[in-house]
Amino acid sequence: MSEEESKGGFFGEFGGRFVPDELEPLLQELADAYAKFGKDPDFQKELLTIQQTFIGRPTPLLYAENATRELGGAKIYIKLEGLANTGAHKINNAVGQALLAKRMGKHTVIAETGAGQHGLASACAAARLGMKCRVYMGQDDVRRQRPNVFWMQQFGAEVIPVTRGSKTLTDAVDEAIEQWVKNPDGVHYLLGSALGPAPYPDIVRDFQSVIGREVKQQIKEREGRLPSVMVACVGGGSNSMGFFTDFLNDKDVKMVAVEAGGRGPEIGDHAARMNGSGSLGVFHGYKSIFLQEEGQMSPTHSISAGLDYAGIGPQLAQLEKMGRISFTLATDAEVIEAFRFFARNEGIIPALESTHALAEVIKLAPKMSSDEILVVNMSGRGDKDIFITAPAVDQTGTWEAFLRDEVRRFDEKKKQ
Ligand SMILES: Cc1ncc(COP(=O)(O)O)c(C=O)c1O
Repeated sequence: MSEEESKGGFFGEFGGRFVPDELEPLLQELADAYAKFGKDPDFQKELLTIQQTFIGRPTPLLYAENATRELGGAKIYIKLEGLANTGAHKINNAVGQALLAKRMGKHTVIAETGAGQHGLASACAAARLGMKCRVYMGQDDVRRQRPNVFWMQQFGAEVIPVTRGSKTLTDAVDEAIEQWVKNPDGVHYLLGSALGPAPYPDIVRDFQSVIGREVKQQIKEREGRLPSVMVACVGGGSNSMGFFTDFLNDKDVKMVAVEAGGRGPEIGDHAARMNGSGSLGVFHGYKSIFLQEEGQMSPTHSISAGLDYAGIGPQLAQLEKMGRISFTLATDAEVIEAFRFFARNEGIIPALESTHALAEVIKLAPKMSSDEILVVNMSGRGDKDIFITAPAVDQTGTWEAFLRDEVRRFDEKKKQ
């Protein structure tokens, strides 16, 4: 059983639609619209044109020959999703859902965002398709992903800082759902990961599956065979499900999903739900594995805002239960090391989220034989992380001096 699609919104025992009555008709309207337009040839044609002319698809599959040589094991390929417009896979789903919303006659999209990549992608898609966009973002994430906030605003989106709870992605989701229920007319909630109440996990996975379809074609052209192992990072599950789906029936292809190991194993220090810390629960409208305490979602930590979330997509939870996908984690420190390694050896700037997957490649590739192929998804580019990465890697103080100097010049300019 491949579990490629939900059955009535469920993947085994996970998924479903556990929502207040007011939300039910909005989700049903979306499910009906997706059933009507999703596979419609006209819709697919319009989507393909935007993918090719605006997103920049297909994204390249890089043979990482330097990393392969340095690590001395499997042949490593990197899918460069970070080269898509706005710098991450999030645009695949944002454009798909925004197009769908237009067909439904909606004029506004609202979105939650953590790293800002989904907010940025939604703002970009809305600008391109002539729609309004409001983005809910935890205040802590607004601070740590300021460059993305700036760009969202340039696309004309309103970015609303969420000050409740832990001021991160969990709270942004709560706020976005509440606002949608309060004011649903003409508004589509553009959810950014393969989770939430049905039909979102199916919709998001389908729009992201273009990643794996391209990888399959590209690796067959280059190598004439499939990879032995595929590795992706997991926040909610959109890049991993998009990357894995086309290979689920290829039983010889192993799939490894990498969660945020953060600072360590204590609750509040990581976002690894599948290493035994998480348990079955219902939050944000779906049943899955969550980090939780006394009926509340636990606080989480990750160096990457995009993996800093207490729940996991229901399909991933089911695929793990079936033994189809295995889970592991990378700590913040391993991520910084992996970032340095791949930047130096391959000339790529991976997002800190994606670097979790690359950290696993460093551990895994040397244990594999040289006639095996390992493909990793670089879900995003890391320019957005410069305010986190630079202080972490710079031991000379140059970065701090630069920032102080910028602030001083800014102050002087204001005085003039
Ligand atoms: C670049 C990047 N990769 C991965 C993720 C994690 O999300 P998902 O698991 O839905 O792919 C994010 C989330 O913001 C992201 O920005």
